[in-house]
Amino acid sequence: MARISYDDQTAAAYKAVREVSREGLEAWRQAVRRHLGPSPDMILVDIGAGTGAFAAAFSDWFGLSVVAVEPSAAMRAQIPRRTGIRVLEGDASTLPMPDDSADGVWLSLVIHHIPDLEAAAREIRRVLRSGAPVLIRSGFRARDDMSQTFPWEFFPETARSVSTFPSAEQVCQSFAAAAFRRDALEPVPETLISIAEFLDEADTYRRADTNMRGLTEEEFRRGKEQLRRAVQDAGQAARTRPRTNWLDLLVLR
Ligand SMILES: C[S@@+](CC[C@H](N)C(=O)[O-])C[C@H]1O[C@@H](n2cnc3c(N)ncnc32)[C@H](O)[C@@H]1O
Repeated sequence: MARISYDDQTAAAYKAVREVSREGLEAWRQAVRRHLGPSPDMILVDIGAGTGAFAAAFSDWFGLSVVAVEPSAAMRAQIPRRTGIRVLEGDASTLPMPDDSADGVWLSLVIHHIPDLEAAAREIRRVLRSGAPVLIRSGFRARDDMSQTFPWEFFPETARSVSTFPSAEQVCQSFAAAAFRRDALEPVPETLISIAEFLDEADTYRRADTNMRGLTEEEFRRGKEQLRRAVQDAGQAARTRPRTNWLDLLVLR
């Protein structure tokens, strides 16, 4: 069970406001290239692929084959159907793939939804070829330093939800039982929309974000008011200046 229900409404909201633009993901493209060493004959499993933003990006960037595994039918319905992307029902602990059939695994903003990390690690070990990497995109760093974690600065109570996520160390421990070792842990920036655009989309964003969904009405109202004031104070820049967010890339092999 995911922490929130990824139903039709959530999937539509996710598609509308949560996908980061390709330009905004440039540092991720470079980081994944460095750690995966992609080539067109590779198969990459995107576990919890959501609306398929990364599946499509990996297919376009690297020309490899992506298997997009996603438990929610509503999210799966949003994944682009095209050559190079296979869309399958499944979850991190039940991957619809044969043994030793994948050259890499990608988990973006999924690790906190997985109820049994050790079971997932065993299943990922089963489908991965020897030496292939598991690439995990998550907000691990948020536990020490929330200051550059979107949208914490306007909605500080989102920290309540983030504090229940597994830390990088906990993930490493769970994966160690399936003989995975930490290869790298590095912060990666991404460029998001401006604060004025975020204000325009805040209600939709809330529907599509686990941490924002955990806010009370009062916390959300207060955060939106802070955001409105920040937009006013920033003048023209509120609409023209994109925001930078930092997440972490954990690589296990
Ligand atoms: C925050 S979304 C991330 C979507 C996508 N990876 C991205 O970065 O845009 C989390 C996704 O994980 C999926 N999910 C939830 N529990 C899961 C599990 N146990 N195994 C795999 N995916 C899961 C949800 O259905 C949802 O699509």
